[in-house]
Amino acid sequence: TKTNNDTKSSHDDLAITLDYPKFSGLGHYDLYQYQGFWCFAKVIESIKDFQQNFKASETDLVIASTPKSGTIWLKALAFAIVNRFRYPCSSVSKNYHHHPLLTVSPHDLVPFVEFKHDTLDNDHLRFTKNNPTHDSPCRLIATHIFYPSLPESIKTGTTKCKVIYLCRNPRDIFVSLWLFINELRAQLPESNDYHPSLSIEEAFEFFCNGVSVFGPFWDHVLGYWKESLENPHKVLFMKYEDLKKERKTQLKRLAEFIGCSFTLEEERQGVIEDVSSLCSFEHLKNLDVNKNGSRKRTVNKAYFRKGEIGDWENHLTPQMVKRLDSLMEEKLQGSGLVF
Ligand code: A3P
Repeated sequence: TKTNNDTKSSHDDLAITLDYPKFSGLGHYDLYQYQGFWCFAKVIESIKDFQQNFKASETDLVIASTPKSGTIWLKALAFAIVNRFRYPCSSVSKNYHHHPLLTVSPHDLVPFVEFKHDTLDNDHLRFTKNNPTHDSPCRLIATHIFYPSLPESIKTGTTKCKVIYLCRNPRDIFVSLWLFINELRAQLPESNDYHPSLSIEEAFEFFCNGVSVFGPFWDHVLGYWKESLENPHKVLFMKYEDLKKERKTQLKRLAEFIGCSFTLEEERQGVIEDVSSLCSFEHLKNLDVNKNGSRKRTVNKAYFRKGEIGDWENHLTPQMVKRLDSLMEEKLQGSGLVF
């Protein structure tokens, strides 16, 4: 029979041989520190492939984010906006029922470069060959890696490849991440049951010490924030809270940045509202693919929990809030970025 340790080491084989700083506090998979950020062993090879082989082209769009900032929402929105002429977003359009977002997870339509092993059809991610399956006007890919770790052809190349970054209030990020990690643990086979769940106190301590998946959170955010200030045509910096509160303004901003602004005629026809409804939390969450579907290693419904601003109030103690706020103040000091 397989022991816990056997199962664990089979996931970590790659990194064990690579000698990166390691963190074992999460219990189920170890985290390794690669180029300043913490990640699972499995993703390191995919990140290297991305860094070495990805050649950005003019029309590429990179969706970058901190985990749990609403990445899946931004993926859906960007996909819907870019492909809206081919796939109309209005539910009264006769082609509406062909819209890929109705039957495919946004994570499969816009795959993460580092989670190739969890993507159903990863042809999209074979950077070294022309991808025959790719029929969108833009190649849309996603990543959680730090800005400085993006391939040179995205950052400094002469191409106009663009990066859209999404972040969220760290209080909500932390709560969402903690619950997500426990959800993933619950899905693990029983033989892999190291700890039934991670307590909020433990998880909070790790988060504040900078140890979180693709963290430290503040380094992640600051990398993209600074680049968005220096190079606003390259990096668009978006916040989950703004998207929730001023949906229409933010969708216009997004489309304009991508280079496919909504026309006045489209605005009159309600296309922005159609995109918004198609990608709304309630709509996506209740689609069969997102409710009952699964990817290779995760069930899709884990990505749709509450979709609200401020759920931290139900989980964090006043002491935790105080500590997190002063930590953020210290880390983000002088950057102009506030949450
Ligand atoms: P909560 O756990 O706070 O509910 P990511 O995609 O980066 O993993 O982020 C997941 C978070 O975004 C979850 O937050 C999830 O519920 C929320 N989310 C997913 N789809 C959304 C949508 N269409 N609108 C708003 N929030 C959404």
